[in-house]
Amino acid sequence: MVDLAAIRARHAASPFLAACRGAPHDTVPVWFMRQAGRALAEYRAIREQHTFEEVVHTPELAAEVTLQPVRRYGVDAAVLFSDIVTPVQAIGLDVTIKPGVGPVIDRPLRTTEDVARLRRLDAEEDLAHVLDTISLLVEELDVPLIGFAGAPFTLASYLIEGGPSRSYSRTKALMFTDELTWHRLLDRLASIVGASLVGQVSRGASAVQLFDSWAGALAPEDYERFVLPHTRRVLEQVGELGVPRIHFGVDTGELLGLMASAGTEVVGVDWRTPLDAARERVPAGVGLQGNLEPAVCLGPFPQVAERARDVLRRAGGAADHVFNLGHGVLPATDPGVLAELVQLVHAEGRVTPADTANTADTAGTTGTTGTADTAGTTNTAGTAGTADTADTAGTTDTPGTTDSVHQHDHQEEQR
Ligand code: CP3
Repeated sequence: MVDLAAIRARHAASPFLAACRGAPHDTVPVWFMRQAGRALAEYRAIREQHTFEEVVHTPELAAEVTLQPVRRYGVDAAVLFSDIVTPVQAIGLDVTIKPGVGPVIDRPLRTTEDVARLRRLDAEEDLAHVLDTISLLVEELDVPLIGFAGAPFTLASYLIEGGPSRSYSRTKALMFTDELTWHRLLDRLASIVGASLVGQVSRGASAVQLFDSWAGALAPEDYERFVLPHTRRVLEQVGELGVPRIHFGVDTGELLGLMASAGTEVVGVDWRTPLDAARERVPAGVGLQGNLEPAVCLGPFPQVAERARDVLRRAGGAADHVFNLGHGVLPATDPGVLAELVQLVHAEGRVTPADTANTADTAGTTGTTGTADTAGTTNTAGTAGTADTADTAGTTDTPGTTDSVHQHDHQEEQR
């Protein structure tokens, strides 16, 4: 049996978990998407002996590969080693991960009959190997473990296209020609992904990240109609477990408000949207993760340092900032650069106490305080993104929305 209370107690002082909740802490936490993997020689050594799937299916190996970047970089969180397609592989789809390409599937899903091939996932049974990896990890780790899954849209894009895509034309074709099948497919994927995340948390993951990596291919209105309801259902299932949720996508500058409205503690921001601009699009009470351009890390460290400082400056010492790259670590990255980057964030990333107090106030979604004086100004909150969010979440009048005004006012004062 997993003693979840003991795990929670062990990480009570975790800056990463505090930042996810906008709670007081001193130092900006940092981890990297795709921190495990080919940038590390010790990962490549294991991959010379084993396929990707073998690593994922062998808890000792998967745990080792998860721990490698924690040792090397000194990051504030570990991220479970598996893949977004692991749950659909586990229910019998013929998906394989092709090195240098990504997930590919021999028989793509494009019709109602194809969708029927997606059966329910029983996490304890179908993902026993993944959950056993978590059990090994929580014994070993001093930092919280992040569980993850691919969001229904991103997962669907691989399953429909048959592999990675530039245009997502088959995916969009299904969306626009057969809406019923589309929603059936996303509904099934939402159940699978939700079950996977719930399983990961119930075995000891302290936070989760939902990767909707390719959602940025969609116009906001299409995202809202075809994707958001399914993603929201996934995040709601996890929300009941009380762990912080991070919702991330690439090229989602125009979707940030909608992504926040899906129900998440933190929105991940890619490098195209500066964090101060992202702050205007995401309501207060929802934190930000990001967003150093990953390719900057291919260059010399002084340049990395300068750009990392810019990220910290734009985050403004907010208590709800988790430092990360804007997308995954590129395989050609020098691990020494990432180790130095972690040191820099820890040395220079100071949380501003005033902000800490303010964000802590507003982080709780129950927030009944501080709304009276700002309530009348909801419509001046600024960006269309924020207004959209309020609309679509059906929460126009909630404290969260007015709190966002409060937060923006507060930030204006600080500038
Ligand atoms: O360190 C970590 O972040 C945890 C492990 C992790 C992997 N995949 C391991 C992996 C995570 C979180 C993922 C998520 C994932 N997988 C996403 C979302 C993140 C993102 O990048 O937006 C996506 C889109 C995938 C699909 C996928 N799987 C791709 C694009 C690739 C890379 C293909 C390649 O070879 O370039 C994979 C394979 C994969 N997943 C590798 C790793 C370490 C490389 C496999 C190898 O060793 O050859």
